[in-house]
Amino acid sequence: MTELDLVIKGRVLIGNEMQTICIGIEDGKITVLGKDLDGDKFLDYSKYLIMPGGIDIHTHMRDPGFTDKEDFHTGTMAAAFGGTTTIMDMPNTRPMVTNVSQLKDKLDIIGKKANVDYGLYASLTPDSDIKVLKELAVGFKLFMAETTSAVPISEEDIRNKLADPELEGQVVSVHAESPERFRDIEVTSLDTHDDSRPASAEIIAVENITQMKTSAIMHFAHLTDLMSFEKAFGYSNEITPHHMFLSTSSDLGARGRVNPPLRNIREQASLFTAFVKAQVGIIASDHAPHTMDEKKMPFGEAPSGLPGVETRLPMMLALVQSEQVSLRLVQATCCHNPARLFSLSKGQIDVGFDADLSIFDMTKNTKIKGERLHSKCGWTPFEDYNAIFPDHVFLRGRKIISDGKLIESGTGRNIV
Ligand code: DOR
Ligand code: ZN
Repeated sequence: MTELDLVIKGRVLIGNEMQTICIGIEDGKITVLGKDLDGDKFLDYSKYLIMPGGIDIHTHMRDPGFTDKEDFHTGTMAAAFGGTTTIMDMPNTRPMVTNVSQLKDKLDIIGKKANVDYGLYASLTPDSDIKVLKELAVGFKLFMAETTSAVPISEEDIRNKLADPELEGQVVSVHAESPERFRDIEVTSLDTHDDSRPASAEIIAVENITQMKTSAIMHFAHLTDLMSFEKAFGYSNEITPHHMFLSTSSDLGARGRVNPPLRNIREQASLFTAFVKAQVGIIASDHAPHTMDEKKMPFGEAPSGLPGVETRLPMMLALVQSEQVSLRLVQATCCHNPARLFSLSKGQIDVGFDADLSIFDMTKNTKIKGERLHSKCGWTPFEDYNAIFPDHVFLRGRKIISDGKLIESGTGRNIV
């Protein structure tokens, strides 16, 4: 038998059981798992937890157009430091990605800056040419309501577009908020922002979409209300850490302004419970950085969105360590289910999968500090929350983070 390129030994969840095993890697793929393996290079992390690299299917890396907030280098570096090795980027950059030339330009601009693997969404608009876009885009984003730099499309147009047979098997991620349910009130606080875009707008939007005919794989992004889950039964769904951990009672002011809005503390608690009970498919960050200067503006003028790509997985691991949730659930919602939705051979420590691995010392619980994170925006809504960050991160068998430092940049590839 030929010698393996690399063998990494550590604690891996196999089924329901933690086992210390060797992961054999060749050409960036996991080729064998075993108790004892030899390789050209052998890395012993026997005391550490090895997880599949995280997959964050909902980020806004702001490149091109808004690189004062983030760029593809800083955003994907933040992902890597948080143990996430694949991200998918939303199309509300400038210009908005609605046609193939915009998508190609964006791929050219960001390609060399990527520190983790990536896929780009295209925006679904009345004139998007799905046949050509789907060759290059990881999926489509549907904005039903106005939100930061995004142009919504009407429900009539959505119905027509979703019926296009070219969408067969394509993932359509839906920002489900129906503007008819919005209230034209003055928005001065988290509570009034919530009142202006109430959960009922989300519920009705989900209901309307589920009644439309389509051969696409419909995915509901950032759901906030349990009733939406009932309406979306049988469809792919996602929630965010901010809707799970923060509420209108949080002391964040405009930093907590986001669409869909944070809900009241009771709804937040029920969302967390739904997650614990394994009723949630995917956890995605909806990383949407804005500068602190923008967030310091009066509430009504501050842009919506908050950062989270670096903290998503580390916060989940802190929940595992405090025994609030199982590692199995975290791996399902942050790695396997996202990979399955997009049919990627990632998100799992098994033969044939990419050797994307994040390695954690589970005794190293720390407090999140905005100033230590790597997003260009320089702040976090989760200041002082518990988290466990990875010590080492591998992307297709190449070490990109070592002892908390980025040691190789620009290694990310387009997954499409
Ligand atoms: O709050 C939000 N911010 N919601 C979105 O849908 C877009 C995002 C952004 O890009 O800032
Ligand atoms: Zn978003």
